[in-house]
Amino acid sequence: MSIIEKAFNKAKGQGQITINPVDLPNEDRDLLDVAEIEKEARVRPATRLSNQSKVAEIDWVKLAELGFVTPGDSNTQAIEEYRNIKRPLVNNAFGEASSGINRANLILITSSVPGEGKTFTAINLALSIANERDKKVLLIDADVARPSVSKTLGIQSSPGLIEYLEGQDVEFSDIVLKTNMPGLRIIPAGKQHKHSTELLASNRMVLLAQQLSNRYPDRIVIFDSPPLLAATQGQVLAELVGQVVLVIEAETTPQSMVMESASRLASCDVVLTVLNKAKSTGDASYYGYGQYAH
Ligand SMILES: Nc1ncnc2c1ncn2[C@@H]1O[C@H](COP(=O)(O)OP(=O)(O)O)[C@@H](O)[C@H]1O
Ligand SMILES: [Mg+2]
Repeated sequence: MSIIEKAFNKAKGQGQITINPVDLPNEDRDLLDVAEIEKEARVRPATRLSNQSKVAEIDWVKLAELGFVTPGDSNTQAIEEYRNIKRPLVNNAFGEASSGINRANLILITSSVPGEGKTFTAINLALSIANERDKKVLLIDADVARPSVSKTLGIQSSPGLIEYLEGQDVEFSDIVLKTNMPGLRIIPAGKQHKHSTELLASNRMVLLAQQLSNRYPDRIVIFDSPPLLAATQGQVLAELVGQVVLVIEAETTPQSMVMESASRLASCDVVLTVLNKAKSTGDASYYGYGQYAH
């Protein structure tokens, strides 16, 4: 048995075949079970779930039609409103105000019930911040029961948060999707899963939040969250982030619901509220900010 055969058999026994037959001299290749290794090499990349080589093309025309603030937009009122909403969030994340706020760069966008404008606000904020020079944003679709970030942006579904939380050979870098906006990356919700809400409350999610805060302190991470009153996951996620934006649909969400949501956010350091779909201004408007939930 040649040295190479011995090495191969040893590696195979340990379950770690690291020899690339293509790099071997021809005479040695003949000694190996080349067919078997090449078969494995062909299968592995095809089955591995990864977004690493993809660039998602955001459909700007569709977004503009839906009323989103897109780069190059001339809707100055909406641009100004999102500037007002993002300013305290960015200051808390990077400015002097950040000292004392744990994980200030992680921001959860939530609401009491579905349909109040979480996704609308999360995407507009992400675009508005990523549009600034030298600001980087990671937008995560964590509303896994009703995901809509990818669909709204007009990008194809791909592996995301659920695949990562399942933990089956999917690494963090596999689920991050580059976009045609240089400062914006996305983690889609991923596939539908009957235990998706449990996965969202899992230890792996806690670790992910920790890592995002430690490894990407220069990046704003925006989570589009499940609503607070439908299940407990929104509240659980709120405890993992430094800042929470509570979206309230104007003239629709009863005050009692808003108060209940506020009480569920009582342990959060920073809660900013956004009154959305207000008739007076036509678009989302910022109307309060602070730790009002206590
Ligand atoms: N300020 C707004 N202006 C225009 N359309 C809005 C606004 N806020 C939300 N919408 C629209 O209302 C619908 C529900 O909003 P969405 O963000 O999907 O709610 P949620 O994510 O909270 O369930 C969507 O069609 C969205 O595009
Ligand atoms: Mg949504």
